Amino acid sequence: MNAAILGTGSWASAFGRHLAHKWDRVVLWGIVSEQVDVINTTGTNPDYLGDLLLPPNLRATLEIDEALTGADAVFVVVPSQAVREVSRKAAQSVALSAGVPFICLAKGLELGTLARLSEVVAQEVAGSTVGNAADGGEHPVAVLLGPSHAEEVAQEMPTAVVLAGQPGYDWKVWQEAVAGPFFRVYTNDDLIGVEISSAFKNVIAVAVGIADGIGTGDNTRGTLMTRGLAELSRIGTALGGRPETFFGLAGVGDMITTCISRHSRNRNFGEAVGRGEHDPQEILDGSIQVVEGAVMTQAGLKLGEKYGLELPITKQVHDVLYSGKPPRQALRELMAREPRAEHD
Ligand SMILES: NC(=O)c1ccc[n+]([C@@H]2O[C@H](COP(=O)([O-])OP(=O)(O)OC[C@H]3O[C@@H](n4cnc5c(N)ncnc54)[C@H](O)[C@@H]3O)[C@@H](O)[C@H]2O)c1
Repeated sequence: MNAAILGTGSWASAFGRHLAHKWDRVVLWGIVSEQVDVINTTGTNPDYLGDLLLPPNLRATLEIDEALTGADAVFVVVPSQAVREVSRKAAQSVALSAGVPFICLAKGLELGTLARLSEVVAQEVAGSTVGNAADGGEHPVAVLLGPSHAEEVAQEMPTAVVLAGQPGYDWKVWQEAVAGPFFRVYTNDDLIGVEISSAFKNVIAVAVGIADGIGTGDNTRGTLMTRGLAELSRIGTALGGRPETFFGLAGVGDMITTCISRHSRNRNFGEAVGRGEHDPQEILDGSIQVVEGAVMTQAGLKLGEKYGLELPITKQVHDVLYSGKPPRQALRELMAREPRAEHD
């Protein structure tokens, strides 16, 4: 089996490393020539994974056609806001074989359209000149999401994720194909619930980080996670997700991992904001890695307005990041909200 992985960042490299243990060939496609060169010449990706060795059957290229030639599956592993552009490039490549599935590993929504990323990929690959319905070559689309820090997957620490795909296609084949001894894969037919959970747990991780930066304790962390889960469930249910999904790997599983982990850039970003040493935008500008939670606060607010949802944590995180509200004031306002029942 051959894989094309679109992206050369942390998750693309760690996931590619995992896949290369089982698949014959893994090719990462990237746009940063230094990253591509260093992967090919040193067998490492130092910007993202330190000196951890990548297997010899994994290499990188700047040519998307080269990555897609002979690929049995395409994995999209770039920041959420680049998913459309990258999927379009792949769909337009003459090297893409008909019927090859696209599996998206990015977490988030497209900000401009509020579309889920599986929808974004599907819209782009549906227009593919090679894989169209007429030749039986439509590209099925799925997402592979859950608590999966790249740093830990790269070190082969036991991890479990969820594969959720468009209905009417046998995803079990791909469940087995991407699983490994330390990488367990579950299926879930609630594509909406899985994607919404994965997108919005990052907002809550930023909130937890902000509280940590202020110097609050475990009580605050637990409160933000559970009340954050309530917000995530409100968004997910409004969009058609199933409640049990929010309590699964992509929901509470990823929420816990992201909110407590030292590897979480969303939590770490929030912590830096909470410490108040720099302006949030300055911190974002200084990060080479994408902080999806910052973008998703904007998507959360838009969805809240569209569906009339109460999202107090998301709103406060948004105000701290984009309106200059002091983090301590945001926390005080959350605590001063009018009393209410826990389950509404
Ligand atoms: N890092 C993790 O542990 C992890 C785990 C699970 C899911 N994810 C998700 O995977 C996605 C990617 O995260 P990451 O950690 O690998 O990010 P990253 O910042 O480490 O790497 C992003 C990669 O995307 C490339 N890229 C950016 N814009 C591009 C464009 N327009 N065209 C082509 N390539 C482009 C960059 O060059 C880089 O190779 C995010 O949505 C993230 O939430 C990350």
